[in-house]
Amino acid sequence: MQTVTSLFENLWQQYTAINPQAEAIHSLLTARGEHVINDHIAIRTFNTEKLGIDVIAQVFVDLGYVKKDAYDFSSKKLNAFHYEHAENPNHPKVFISELQVEAFSEEVQDIIKKLDDQVDVAEPYQADFIYSGRPWTLSFDDYIRLLQESEYAAWTAAFGYRANHFTVSINHLTTFFDIESLNQFILDNEFALNESGGLIKGTPEQLLEQSSTMAPLVNLEFDDANHLVPSCFYEFAKRYPMESGRLYQGFIAASADKIFESTDTK
Ligand code: NI
Repeated sequence: MQTVTSLFENLWQQYTAINPQAEAIHSLLTARGEHVINDHIAIRTFNTEKLGIDVIAQVFVDLGYVKKDAYDFSSKKLNAFHYEHAENPNHPKVFISELQVEAFSEEVQDIIKKLDDQVDVAEPYQADFIYSGRPWTLSFDDYIRLLQESEYAAWTAAFGYRANHFTVSINHLTTFFDIESLNQFILDNEFALNESGGLIKGTPEQLLEQSSTMAPLVNLEFDDANHLVPSCFYEFAKRYPMESGRLYQGFIAASADKIFESTDTK
């Protein structure tokens, strides 16, 4: 039977298999004596009937997660919700976003329909779907066509169902007290950080500071041949207490908007 712990282990295995960078950073932190706690993962999808947020979230809801805040990314034409575990606040949060497919050109809509048509309506409800990768075939031409209108659409078509990123909870680290020193450690170890909107997204006043690596290129299989495309990235988050004293658990749309760009091709 799947538990929250086994589900996240499966997601981590799948994620590090194509993103050895995350495994390497995790190992560097462990070698310092850190016990790395995951703040959240993020999942990307399309807002079709078969693949929308509520469908994709079901596996988490079945394990005790509840839907919390809604987010709107109008410039990227995305909606999102975050989910928290109802009973155990130590379980990672889940941030699920979806592309507003109808907001794109007919050509892009037709490509996404071709992908969606390859998924059986019951498939997304299977317990392992969320870490099954791409459930459709995709040509590199279609990938490029999607990329011209939306980096997000292209990534989602190419990589399918998996954690787009895991997130180190800086609050749980014992040898870094702020996000600046962790960023410096990442840079000193020669990993590239996302500089869109500055290295650090968000402020203590907003109760959340975030940074992330840039997704490294991986050699991904398409219908015709393999091509190098940006894969997954690793994120770092520091949360601040609200007036109640409890750490803020939500997300900042303006920061997430920049974090999305960690998988951009340029
Ligand atoms: Ni994130």
